[in-house]
Parts: sequence; C-alpha cells; structure tokens
Amino acid sequence: MFGKKKEQPQIDKEQLELIKNAQKRIKQKKRLYIHFVIFLIGSVFIIVANTVLEIGKDFTLFGKEWFLFAILIWLFFLIYHVFNVFVTHKFMGKAWEKTQLDKLIVQQKLRIEQLKNELEKEAPIIAESEHYNESLNKKEKTSELTIIGAAAENDAIGKDNKLIWHLSDDLKRFKSLTNGHHIIMGRKTFESFPKPLPNRTHIVITRQSDYNVPDGVIIVHSLDEAIKAAKNDPQPFVIGGGEIYKQALLVADKIELTRVHENFEGDAFFPEIDTSIWKETANTFHTKDDKHEHEFSFLTYERR
Ligand SMILES: NC(=O)c1ccc[n+]([C@@H]2O[C@H](COP(=O)([O-])OP(=O)(O)OC[C@H]3O[C@@H](n4cnc5c(N)ncnc54)[C@H](OP(=O)(O)O)[C@@H]3O)[C@@H](O)[C@H]2O)c1
Repeated sequence: MFGKKKEQPQIDKEQLELIKNAQKRIKQKKRLYIHFVIFLIGSVFIIVANTVLEIGKDFTLFGKEWFLFAILIWLFFLIYHVFNVFVTHKFMGKAWEKTQLDKLIVQQKLRIEQLKNELEKEAPIIAESEHYNESLNKKEKTSELTIIGAAAENDAIGKDNKLIWHLSDDLKRFKSLTNGHHIIMGRKTFESFPKPLPNRTHIVITRQSDYNVPDGVIIVHSLDEAIKAAKNDPQPFVIGGGEIYKQALLVADKIELTRVHENFEGDAFFPEIDTSIWKETANTFHTKDDKHEHEFSFLTYERR
C-alpha cells in the first residue's frame, strides 16, 4: 500500500512541442538525403541507359542527348526540395507562425491597454455630463414653466399695445393663477400696464441696455435669462405678448389659454398650438352674460 511510486518523466507542453519539431526536421532532412542519393544513382542509371544500353539513342533535343535534359529537370526538383527544407520550413514553419502570432497578440494587448486608459480618462467627463443632464431633467420636472394668455379664434391677442376685450372672469383667473409667482413678459406688454401688478415678481425682456423700470422689476435680455431669474419659482408664468409667447412655446411645460370664440382684428398674435406636441387636459366653456361680451373657454394644454 505504501510502496514506492514509479517516477514518471515530467515533460511540459513546450518541451513536447520542441521534441516534435526536432523529429519533424530530422525526417525532412532524411527524406532530402534519400532524394539526393536516388538522384545520383538515377542520373548514373539514365546516362548508362542512354550511352551503354543505347536506349533512345536517336532521340536528341537541340542536338544534345535526352539524358542531359532529364538530369537537369530532376536537378531542378532536387534544388526545390533543398529550398523547401532549409528555407521555407526553417523560416516559415510552425515556429515562425508562432512568433508572428505572439507579435500580433502583444500588439492587441497594447491597443487594449491604450483604450482602457483613454476610457478611464473620459469616464469622469461622461459621468459629469450624465449627471448634468439628469439634474437638468429634474429641474424641468420641479419647475413648471407656464404660458398664460387669451387669444381669439384667429389667434389675435392685442391691438395698438392694448387688450381687445374685457372679460372679468378671465382677469380673475389670471390673477389667482399668477398670484405670488414670477411673471415673464416682453417690454411692450410691460408698457401696456398702467403700473406693475401687485404681489408678482415682474421680469421684463428687452434688448435695450438702459431700459428704466420701477424698483423690484427685473430686467433681462433673453427668455433664457428670464427663466434663470425665476429659477426658485416652482411655476413661473410667461404672460406675453406675441413675440415672447412664440419663443416660450418651444420651452414651456404648460399652457393656460383662454380661447375667445370670435375673430378680432389685431397686430399681435398667439402662436399656433401643435396638438402633436400639446395635449388638451382641461376645457371649461363660459357663455356670454352681463359681465362677458363674448363666449370663451378656459383651456389647459400640457406637453405630451
Ligand atoms: N391677450 C393676451 O393674453 C395678451 C397678453 C400679453 C400681451 N398682449 C398684447 O400683446 C401685445 C404685445 O405683444 P408684442 O408681441 O407686440 O410684444 P411683446 O412680446 O410684449 O414685447 C416685444 C419686445 O420684447 C423684447 N424682446 C422680444 N424678444 C426678445 C429677445 N429674444 N431678447 C431680448 N428682448 C426681446 C423686445 O423689446 P425691446 O424692443 O425693448 O428690445 C421686443 O420689442 C399688446 O397688444 C398686448 O396688449 C395680450
């Protein structure tokens, strides 16, 4: 049971490969040697057959005996054989293939390392931009930029920098929705008010650098700037007029529109609402009465 184990010779894979290669080379050289000997004997035999035994004595090529050409052709095959054994097999054999493969593997590994390094360098930038986009999305969700306005059936909203109608309930609705919020408007709309509206932060957009306003009114020079100025308001309102509505429609989240069911002459207009982008989520009809000369509807649209 505890008898001595017979020792097995341990040959690793590489050694085995070397041995196999060496055996193959020996066989190749042996075959070449046999070829050479046969060539010598064969050549002598051909010469004897032609000159002594007179086989094909009358057959000549270019005035020379045929055995000369036969030996030359054979010599050519022998030289080809020598070339195969000492050049092709030696330099382009398995070992050569392996070195080429190893070289390619090393090159690939280097390239992979290089790509890894580049990725490591870029990862923080990618992460940062993803984080930035995420925070932008969150910002859009927490702050709801809302357009509020009243437009006729033909989209007219004003004429000669004045409103075209007086609808008491519409004004009440405007007051209650915008109360306590930032209201963003174009310079012309601001000028259409006799004085700033109470309990609202006015943000006026103008291209003029020296535009004077009462205390508390914020002046900006683009809609983007206006939105930034209202960033702490969960629901800033864009209150007009036509030029500003057009720009705000591209970035707003919600529209509170009073649609007055008549056509009016005007010089400022509400932009067309694309229903493939905007979904109507509320619609309340209001009839004519003592305080309202026209029929109208309160419509709410939300971005799809
Ligand atoms: N029915 C409604 O609900 C409603 C609501 C609001 C107003 N309105 C009516 O609409 C009319 C006014 O509208 P509107 O289109 O003529 O004028 P607006 O939009 O009120 O104001 C236009 C002005 O805003 C400034 N502006 C516009 N885009 C700008 C930008 N990208 N960057 C910097 N400044 C910019 C310019 O001021 P500067 O010229 O100073 O550079 C421009 O002249 C009035 O009739 C008003 O009564 C109706």
